[in-house]
Formats: sequence, structure tokens, C-alpha cells
Amino acid sequence: MTETDLIAAARAAALRAYAPYSNFSVGCAVLSVDGEVVTGANMENACYRLGLCAEVSALTLAQARFGLDKVARIAVAGGDASGAELAGDAAVTPCGGCRQSILEAAQLSGRDVEILCASGDGKTIERHTIGALIPHGFGPANLADSA
Ligand code: THU
Repeated sequence: MTETDLIAAARAAALRAYAPYSNFSVGCAVLSVDGEVVTGANMENACYRLGLCAEVSALTLAQARFGLDKVARIAVAGGDASGAELAGDAAVTPCGGCRQSILEAAQLSGRDVEILCASGDGKTIERHTIGALIPHGFGPANLADSA
């Protein structure tokens, strides 16, 4: 699965978002070390604070399918899904809460998971590692000694 394919999967997933309040659709594709891909999209709620981000949605499925410890790479894309294709020219980086969820997956394997952050139109791509997005984070590794 190429970088382009993973971003395309994230962009396609965004078209299945339920985002009637923000009108900002986000898709996320998670690639496993074995080449399996799962996707998710944001799902909002009339009780606004209960909305789910695309990354958490995709990571939930990743855990069910192959396990968080098998996460190899992640792509995120977001923008306007009112047309046939996702639009927008600004790269979407995971929110703080999603960074924490990705850190959980990363620390389980000791892999500094790469996150491809794409614009809605897929033309702008930023590449970050979770270590760069959440430096000095607190995760399962921090609890290992007290178990
Ligand atoms: N959103 C995500 O799905 N992932 C992020 O990392 C950033 C924000 C969603 C949440 C909300 O439904 C919409 O984008 C606007 O914030």
C-alpha cells in the first residue's frame, strides 16, 4: 500500500463522515504491519461534545481487526465533503486527543508511527511522526514500571 493509496483511502472514508454540525469531514486510514487497512470517519452528535473523531473511529476498528500494536502507518484527510470528492487545501493534523490515542498504539509496539496529514483535495501532504506531534507524551510505557 503506497502513501498515495493510504491517503486516497482516508479521503474516501471522509465521504462517509457524519458531520452535520461542523460540516468538516475527516477520514482516517490505518495500515497494519501486515498490509491490512481499516478506515473511519468523524461521527458528530447533537450533544456536540459526544462527537467522535475519524482517528479514534479508525483505531477502534484497527483494534478489532488486527490490534493496536500492529499499527504501522496512519493517513488523515479532512475538508468539505459536499461535492462528489473531498475538497480543501489545508492539511489536517490530528487533534490533541487523537494524538494521545495514536500514542497508545505507538507505545505498545515501540514504533514511532508515521502520520500522513493530507488536505481534503489530497494535494497537500505533511508527514509527521507521533513522537513529533506529542513530544514528552504519557502512555502505556509510563505505567509499565508500576504494573
Ligand atoms: N476532527 C476529527 O475527526 N479529527 C481531528 O483530528 C480533528 C477534528 C473532527 C471533529 C469534528 O467532527 C470536526 O472534525 C470539526 O472539528
